[in-house]
Amino acid sequence: MKLTLSVIKADIGSIGGHIGPSRKLLDAVKALVAERGKVDLLDHTVGSTGDDIAILMTHRHGAGSPIVHGLAWEAFVAGAQVAKEQGLYGAGQDLLKDAFSGNVHGMGPAAAELEIEERPNEPFLLFAADKTDPGAFNFPLYLAFVDAMNTPGLILSPKISQGFRFVIMDVNHTTGDRVIELLAPEQIYDIAALLRDPERYVVESVWSRATGEQAVAVATSRLHNIAGRYTGKDDPVMLVRTQMNFPATGEVLAPFAAGHYVAGGMRGSHNMPLMPVALGTTTSYFDGPPLVTCAAFCVHEGRLTEPLDAFSHPFWDEVRHNVTRKAVDMRRQGFFGAAMLPMGELEYTGISEKLATLDKAFKIRPPVTRADAA
Ligand code: F6R
Ligand code: MG
Ligand code: MG
Repeated sequence: MKLTLSVIKADIGSIGGHIGPSRKLLDAVKALVAERGKVDLLDHTVGSTGDDIAILMTHRHGAGSPIVHGLAWEAFVAGAQVAKEQGLYGAGQDLLKDAFSGNVHGMGPAAAELEIEERPNEPFLLFAADKTDPGAFNFPLYLAFVDAMNTPGLILSPKISQGFRFVIMDVNHTTGDRVIELLAPEQIYDIAALLRDPERYVVESVWSRATGEQAVAVATSRLHNIAGRYTGKDDPVMLVRTQMNFPATGEVLAPFAAGHYVAGGMRGSHNMPLMPVALGTTTSYFDGPPLVTCAAFCVHEGRLTEPLDAFSHPFWDEVRHNVTRKAVDMRRQGFFGAAMLPMGELEYTGISEKLATLDKAFKIRPPVTRADAA
């Protein structure tokens, strides 16, 4: 029977603005998952990235299971209750609906799930990002699964050389899942043409063409599309299986050394570089910079090892310094041009309201004629 890895995450309240959850809140979530998980899960672990809490669960109920999604929802409700009692900022903010209806999709929390035939050894990575949206993973996934300059496995390993199938979602389409399937390497320019627009086209999953196995699952929900006027970022999670028929762990981590610019940071409305940080890191400068953690695991018969912290290695200190420099450079130009997100991505309506008022004050100046000039 297949094993399912489910990670479900939500922002249900934080200390000091959008910095991080309180210990009491985390404990409430952990306690509920531990209690309910005795019956419904094979194993689980709970962690935080910025102000988001991610629950990783292993089980045999399949992807989208009401049992597993319901468990996560209840855990977040219990955490939100504590957040309210403690007066935390944004208490319960990602729980967009009052009652659970079978699956967290469209309800606020984000989910990424892999249904797998467990390999004899099964290494995988759990990425969680805060103050950004799911398109933040387009860049590292393109490099890891398409580009031999990043991933020598694409030319060294016969299985990996057969390439990967990308499933890409148009996240602006809200009346159902609008997806396209493209094959690497034949269609890499088509893949590139879509992934260059990470606010609209988002990698949902990646599959091995050699074996048909799923390598990647990304939580693709865009909350402002679901809720209409949600004033935050989606803060995505992603699961990536590594080694053997998939890119090596180091090949998947390598693209994060670029500290690429992503949508996120202050008021969910700015472009900032993505900083790889240690597990449990909170948010700071300019409500950012957007951050990403990576917990590495192996799973055997559904039992998880402890997480190892992939970005706590000294190598990433220099990357973080570089990201800091990039962040400060970008902030020098305030709200001008590339620093602030385009109109459609702003999490606030202030500018469009201002522009609507100013629009009425514009006048068409009559053309200057020869007679006027004389
Ligand atoms: C994401 C996050 C931000 C905020 C956004 C709106 O974790 O914290 O995207 O949600 O800055 O914040 P408020 O509602 O406080 O204006
Ligand atoms: Mg937040
Ligand atoms: Mg967050």
